[in-house]
Amino acid sequence: MSLPRLGIDVGGTKCLGVVLDDAGQRVGEGRRATPRGAEAIVDTLAELAESLAADVGGVRSVGIGMPGLVTRDGVIKASPNLRDVADFPVGAMLAARLGRPVEVDNDATCAIAAEWKVGAAIGRTDVVMVTLGTGIGGGIVANNRLVRGANGFTGEIGHVVIDPDGPPCPCGRRGCWERYASGSGLARLAREAAVGKRLNRIVELAGGDPEDVRGENVQHAAREGDSDALAVIDLFGKWVALGLANLTNVLDPEAFVLGGGLAASADLYLGPIQRWFTRLLYAPDLRPHPDLTFATLGEYAGAVGAALLADVHQ
Ligand code: BGC
Repeated sequence: MSLPRLGIDVGGTKCLGVVLDDAGQRVGEGRRATPRGAEAIVDTLAELAESLAADVGGVRSVGIGMPGLVTRDGVIKASPNLRDVADFPVGAMLAARLGRPVEVDNDATCAIAAEWKVGAAIGRTDVVMVTLGTGIGGGIVANNRLVRGANGFTGEIGHVVIDPDGPPCPCGRRGCWERYASGSGLARLAREAAVGKRLNRIVELAGGDPEDVRGENVQHAAREGDSDALAVIDLFGKWVALGLANLTNVLDPEAFVLGGGLAASADLYLGPIQRWFTRLLYAPDLRPHPDLTFATLGEYAGAVGAALLADVHQ
C-alpha cells in the first residue's frame, strides 16, 4: 500500500491539517493557531506537517491551501484576510524546510478539488464551489478539469465588484461581493439594518450595541422565528443569489457547491437563495437551472483538497 497524502488548510485563525489514505479517508488530523507573518507561518506548517507525517510513518506528498492570490509556483501575492502576508513564497520556503516538494493552491480551489474528487460534486464536469466564510472563495471545474488560470489566480469571485461606491474591502477596493454575501457581509447587513430600524432581538443577542452584531446573532434570532432576522437573511440570500446568477452567465455550470462556515446553517439560507436565484437568473424560463448543493466535507474541504493537489495539478 502506498503512503498517505498530507494536506494543510491555512485560515485566518487556524491551520487544519489532515492525512488522507488512498480511499480518500482521513487517517490523521491536527490543528494549530495561525501565527502572524510569513516566517512564523512556515514554522507552524513545518512543525504540523512533520508531526502528522511522523504519526503515520511518513507521507508521499504535501499540499497547502491558502487564502488569496496564489501563483502556480506557490507564492502568495496578496491575501486580504490573512494579516502581514504579501509576496510570500510559502511553497519554496516550506519545501526547503521539509526537504521535499510542496504543492500550494488557493484555499477555495483546494475545496473544489476535494468536493469534486471525494465530496458533493463527484462525477460533475462543470461545477463552481463558493465558500461563504469570513470572505468568499471560488473554485472552478470546467470541462471536467480544475481551472487554475494563467497565473493560478482563477476563482477570486469574492472580489468581483458589485457596487464601486460600496463599503471598503480589505483588498483595497470598494463594494466587493464578499462585503455583502459572506459571514462578515451578513453581520454588516444586520448592523446596517439595526442602525436604521431597531432589530430588538438581534441587538439584544449581541449584548445591546448594534455595532456588535455578528452573523451568529442573526442566525440565532432567525431560528427563534424573529421576523427582523428572517428579513436580514432574505436580503443576504438575495446578495448570494445575485452573485450565483452572475457566475452562471460566465461559466454555465451544472451545479454550485456552497461551503465555508455559513454552509453549516444551510437550512436557514437555502430557501431564500433558491428563491432569489430563480428570479435573478438570465432567461430563467429558457434554460436548465444549475443545482444548488451544499458541501459535504464541511471544515475539512480545504485540507482534504490540499492533500489531493499533487494529483489534481498533474
Ligand atoms: C480571498 C480568496 C479566498 C477567500 C476565502 C477571499 O477574500 O481573496 O483568495 O479564497 O477569501 O478564504
